[in-house]
Amino acid sequence: MSLITQRLAADAPGLAAAAVALRAGDLVAFPTETVYGLGGDARSGAAVARIYEAKGRPRFNPLIAHLPSLEAAEKIAVFSDEARALARAFWPGPLTLVLPLRAEAGISDLVTAGLETVAIRVPAHPVARALLEAFGGPLAAPSANPSGKVSPTTADHVLEGLSGRIAAVVDGGPCAVGVESTILSLAPPRLLRPGGLPAEALEAALGQPLEAGGDAAKPNAPGQLTSHYAPGAAVRLAAAEKRLGEIYLGFGPGPAADLTLSASGDLVEAAAALFGALREADKLARTRGAQTIAVAPVPDHGLGRAINDRLRRAAAPRP
Ligand code: TXA
Ligand code: MG
Repeated sequence: MSLITQRLAADAPGLAAAAVALRAGDLVAFPTETVYGLGGDARSGAAVARIYEAKGRPRFNPLIAHLPSLEAAEKIAVFSDEARALARAFWPGPLTLVLPLRAEAGISDLVTAGLETVAIRVPAHPVARALLEAFGGPLAAPSANPSGKVSPTTADHVLEGLSGRIAAVVDGGPCAVGVESTILSLAPPRLLRPGGLPAEALEAALGQPLEAGGDAAKPNAPGQLTSHYAPGAAVRLAAAEKRLGEIYLGFGPGPAADLTLSASGDLVEAAAALFGALREADKLARTRGAQTIAVAPVPDHGLGRAINDRLRRAAAPRP
């Protein structure tokens, strides 16, 4: 099916049009503080199936349900005292909690992939919040890019990948955080994905160190690391120098760079720049006939953990 994808303004008429499309079971991409999400009605199996189809996602991986408030989230998932304390501390914001699903939640099985848990997040971006309010229900939303490709942090990125496959994108400008949310499961607390909320902040709130779990537990095991966030060119990590025929993506002071994540070595700025810089580097590589994007080392703390996780996936062997 080929659609004309509309670019909607992030104003009242644009949001009203987006809500109408979502209520009809159509897909609308929208900005969050992390990355643009590909939104569909989380209660509708047909709408959620369309999300997988539009992304070309091969398997039914569980998705994140986006809600306007902790109160709305409590109707969908069971919150322990610990979960509620974290939600109060960090929502709205770039934290996703994996919690037991309520039987009466009314969420499609395709959102949870049939699991007894559900991933929930209350986004902070004012446009995401206004859209959730206008729509009046939970939105399932993975990143708004074709499966395996670089995540979108602008409406233009969304259109580059999904134009003709979704009804609309609400243009809310560039995303401030730039990497996806941190995913945490509880009892015991486990970091399933490093992301926009630094793990150190969660550890401070919990008063205990986090166990790594899920993907983060085996980032270097051969065969376990699925290629993701992949530009067209190959990616060489922790590159201290630029080699012949490479595009060099710098961080902080260092060798002369073609592009930089942050000239001053600021991790917040680097996270916000990451996906856009990978796209730019890929375009430069095509123009100059370079095969490889070399990326300067990025310290592995704070947002650096999320940045390095995404870079390792960008560099992973392609299927
Ligand atoms: O920042 C974000 O989180 C963005 C924006 C749009 O909100 N969304 C996003 O969604 O990154 P997605 O689909 O790319 O990531 C969802 C992740 C997947 O890695 C999935 O495995 C995990 O959440 N997940 C979802 N439900 C889960 C569950 N019940 N148990 C464990 N992991 C789950
Ligand atoms: Mg994604």
